[in-house]
Amino acid sequence: MSSKTTYKSHDSSVGHSYYGGRGWSALVGGTSVATSGSIHYPRSTPEMWPDLIKKAKDGGLDVIQTYVFWNGHEPSPGKYNFDGRYDLVKFIKLVQQAGLYVHLRIGPYVCAEWNFGGFPVWLKYVPGMSFRTDNEPFKIAMQRFTEKIVSMMKSAELFEPQGGPIIMSQIENEYGPVEWDIGAPGKAYSKWVAQMADGLKTGVPWIMCKQEDAPEPMIDTCNGFYCEKFTPHRPNKPKMFTELWTGWFTEFGGPIPTRPVEDIAYAVARFIQNNGSFVNYYMYHGGTNFGRTAGGLFITTSYDYDAPIDEYGLPNEPKWSHLRDLHTAIKLVEPALVSAYPTVTYPGKNQEIHVFQPKSGGCAAFLSNFDPQFSAKMTFGKAQYDLPAWSISILHDCKDEVFNTAKVKSPTIQRKMTTAGTFKWQSYNEEAPSSDGSDTLAMAGLYEQLNVTRDESDYLCVNVSPNEQFLKNGQSPVLTVMSAGHALHVFINNQLAGTVWGSLKNPKLTFSQNVKLRAGVNKISLLSVSVGLANVGTHFENYNVGILGPITLKGLNEGTRDLTKQKWSYKVGLRGETLSLHTLDGSSSVEWLQGSLVAQKQPLTWYKTTFNAPDGNEPLALDMNGMGKGQIWLNGEGIGRHWPAYKASGKCDKCSYTGTYTENKCNRYCGDPSQRWYHVPRSWLRPTGNFLVIFEEWGGNPDWITLVKRT
Ligand code: GAL
Repeated sequence: MSSKTTYKSHDSSVGHSYYGGRGWSALVGGTSVATSGSIHYPRSTPEMWPDLIKKAKDGGLDVIQTYVFWNGHEPSPGKYNFDGRYDLVKFIKLVQQAGLYVHLRIGPYVCAEWNFGGFPVWLKYVPGMSFRTDNEPFKIAMQRFTEKIVSMMKSAELFEPQGGPIIMSQIENEYGPVEWDIGAPGKAYSKWVAQMADGLKTGVPWIMCKQEDAPEPMIDTCNGFYCEKFTPHRPNKPKMFTELWTGWFTEFGGPIPTRPVEDIAYAVARFIQNNGSFVNYYMYHGGTNFGRTAGGLFITTSYDYDAPIDEYGLPNEPKWSHLRDLHTAIKLVEPALVSAYPTVTYPGKNQEIHVFQPKSGGCAAFLSNFDPQFSAKMTFGKAQYDLPAWSISILHDCKDEVFNTAKVKSPTIQRKMTTAGTFKWQSYNEEAPSSDGSDTLAMAGLYEQLNVTRDESDYLCVNVSPNEQFLKNGQSPVLTVMSAGHALHVFINNQLAGTVWGSLKNPKLTFSQNVKLRAGVNKISLLSVSVGLANVGTHFENYNVGILGPITLKGLNEGTRDLTKQKWSYKVGLRGETLSLHTLDGSSSVEWLQGSLVAQKQPLTWYKTTFNAPDGNEPLALDMNGMGKGQIWLNGEGIGRHWPAYKASGKCDKCSYTGTYTENKCNRYCGDPSQRWYHVPRSWLRPTGNFLVIFEEWGGNPDWITLVKRT
């Protein structure tokens, strides 16, 4: 992208004057093909940002794209957080210092496999709230947050007309399908969204991705694995690809998706030869869902995404280098691309030639072989060109092949995890969950989980103590518990009776098992666990988690008893959470076992240790193989949810880069833990005395945990 930045219009005769405003006019003056990459600032640490941005620049990008994460910035109403990983202004300034531009996707609904799609959970409890539709409480809250972000950007002079790097924004996210679904209120909301955003006078254009009828002056853009067929909804709009998925996210229970770089380069080349002018890699660096930020259900802590820069900040090779070479080639032919529309010819089946030959001189050609199986020899001009199957060659001056999407020249680099340390653990076992203490609620009937926890914790314990006076000793009725998800541990008289869990596709679960009750009073304790909140959809106000019932006991003397409407008592969070065992101070409030007494394979166990930082500066991770499910903290910071016991099921067939890609195509590590390694940011470590705490829900063997270096 040349220093004068604008996007190639679908119809250059219309020009860009419709944007008006000083900002955009300042950008008009040269058309370009821009490459962009998503890096979400809270998915890495501020210490990692400069290097990630530098690698993006060295990789040939012009723009960094990020969402803005509302629930990270406004954890409770009116209380804002713009520090640390949420220091948005700092992130944008670093991008600017590196000489790159910013595409700011304010949303504030972001999807993004982020908890609740970026919405603060408290919003669900604002009276009258209905999300992403023509609803006053929602519109008021959305406008307030959007204005807050825009005014912060303006005060820091970050919009392009102010001399800043932000050249484009986004409002909403993929609203088109929702609008289609809900009809009139959706249409009214869209119109309002567009007016509201436009009214903020940022001086730079707004996009609404995946929204064919985006109201003026919004620009509709395309997201997907391929977008060459996409046409902008109005002739005066540029053709932009705002999310080219470089891989896919991983879910607990699923294998690790990968996307071959040959196919990514092919998708880019196809888009550009068909007049595309802006391509953003989603993700360029995926990073980590630290703490409890992962959303969509069952999304792993790693958000690596098989992106060109891996979760740890290292180039993912050959992906990073091959795309860099592609960007170099595109820049070389850019003057021809932006000065002429292509002449397209079809020399053979599955073959296409696009020639850009401006009157002013210069020439660029794209030779395509779309055949998923066979390579092709193509004659063009005075020469013959070899095209591997499913590939595109870019010719400079319409003669020199400067790039072919399938001819990968850079070597593959295998990353290794090498042991950098082991740990000596101490353990503390929680008693079976209970809610007899003073910090509990007692209510008749079953209450939806989020309503009780407000997502302060993944855990909600629900107890009832039915009196089975007439039960014969040894009789074991069937307890059935229906839950909206996502995992459930059942304790009978303080003994674990069983555990059930769901998956991303099917979060609902049913526990149904014979349980041993005794004559007299029995205690049934249900520990219900959420694993991230939904990130896709519309009516988030109706979103439910946890035990909604019915709950029945079948096989009693009286037959079946419905426990659903009984008086249940509730306790939010684990005892260890209430005591803040993940902090040094909090951890001193209980007795820990050491040496041979350290708990093994016991559910509801806390482990703690201290360790010194290993030498060097290689990125670090915890190898959690051997553990079940739970959460990890380092020096009080949330590393994330671990669940190595959830093994990847699915298909891991041989992967070919040819043919249309889908997220199920090049999966890896079937049968292995969906996530074994958990990123430990170097900057969270002190030289000595680092305090590591793990809460293990299922039971595991802590002696297997090691600290590893990624090399
Ligand atoms: C898109 C969405 C992104 C992300 C992506 C999948 O539809 O806009 O936010 O969720 O899917 O990774």
